[in-house]
Amino acid sequence: MDKLNILVTGGAGFIASHLVDALVERGHNVRILDSLVEQVHGGKVPEFLNAKAEFIHADVCDADAVSKALDGIEVVYHQAAEVGVGQSMYEIVKYVKTNDLGTAVLLEEMVKRPKQFKKLVVASSMSIYGEGAYRCEPCNENVNPFLRPSEQLEAHEWEFSCETCGSQLKTIGTSETKPLFPTSVYAVSKQDQEQYCLAVGRAYKIPTVAFRYFNVYGPRQALSNPYTGICAIFSSRLMNDQAPTIFEDGEQTRDFVNVKDIVRANLLAIDTDGGDYNSFNIGTGRATSVREIAELLASGLGKDIQSEIVGKYREGDIRHCVADISKARKMLGYEPSVTLEDGLAELLAWLATQEAEDKVEGATAELTSRALVK
Ligand code: UD1
Repeated sequence: MDKLNILVTGGAGFIASHLVDALVERGHNVRILDSLVEQVHGGKVPEFLNAKAEFIHADVCDADAVSKALDGIEVVYHQAAEVGVGQSMYEIVKYVKTNDLGTAVLLEEMVKRPKQFKKLVVASSMSIYGEGAYRCEPCNENVNPFLRPSEQLEAHEWEFSCETCGSQLKTIGTSETKPLFPTSVYAVSKQDQEQYCLAVGRAYKIPTVAFRYFNVYGPRQALSNPYTGICAIFSSRLMNDQAPTIFEDGEQTRDFVNVKDIVRANLLAIDTDGGDYNSFNIGTGRATSVREIAELLASGLGKDIQSEIVGKYREGDIRHCVADISKARKMLGYEPSVTLEDGLAELLAWLATQEAEDKVEGATAELTSRALVK
């Protein structure tokens, strides 16, 4: 691939900063547009920001700044977003502004000069599915349930049962064709970002690819941001000698994908045209329980701290979701390369060099006061 001029929005963030490094490594000219959100960066330029990338400190909603940032650019990776699911349920304007309006601003600036762009790649999320896909073996039927009703959760019945025969449903890989049931403002805004980009891309013939990231982990996760995923939340608790709080019974599962594999997928989007105008799951296909993650992190950090399984639940939480990655395999040649064991070992090595301010209790209190944790 020739040397390209690439813009990465949100390039100072956890995932996008790794992407910037990989692009620079490949010899591309990389420009970052990032507003350095206070909750994530504490208003500072992160020390890991790649010095070989040009940095523009601006908000993605600032049309003038975005227009300047697009000058000479051939490929846009749109990774800028507010990312806290729970927080999106009360800071609604902030999430809609950054994620929806920010994408609108970017696209409106792009369509003023559509011929300039060879590719647009947008970061979407597994959260747009809501619950994952399930199967009832006795009925020989696949099922796509909506959220568990509150009466069921109040009774601490965490798993789904078949509405026909009553047996427990089995989790199966969630494919891109599963109906979308986004259940948080964040998730709705991610669906919007994905669909805006694909719609505009199709209309203006800007080849566009959307990646639905599963639960991403790795070095540079914002440890002091209590609204990010559990690898960061649990690590931050343990590093401060506090027990991780586990909702439900800890047996809920997710597909934890290493940030390196997310970067690989993003590179494939510019290496091949095979994925143009499509959305892809980027995960591993392996399900891991929340309890297992807490145990692996505690033992890796050498902390003899038992997690607290509190039996509470978070409003809008899903029970299981694991990626079916066959579409990305087939059309992009994507293959996850980092096992959870290796990935967590690398995360732990990085954690050893970090300090984490534990703000989890405050965040949980905030969610509880709004009846978003019960
Ligand atoms: C959500 C989003 C995902 C996003 C991620 C990080 C959905 C379906 N997915 O993932 O797109 O990338 O947030 O922002 O909305 N848990 C605990 N204790 C805690 C915190 C969480 O037990 O202190 C549990 C939750 O109840 C949940 C599981 O851990 O069952 C995973 O939570 P989390 O890491 O926040 O990710 P998701 O909700 O899967």
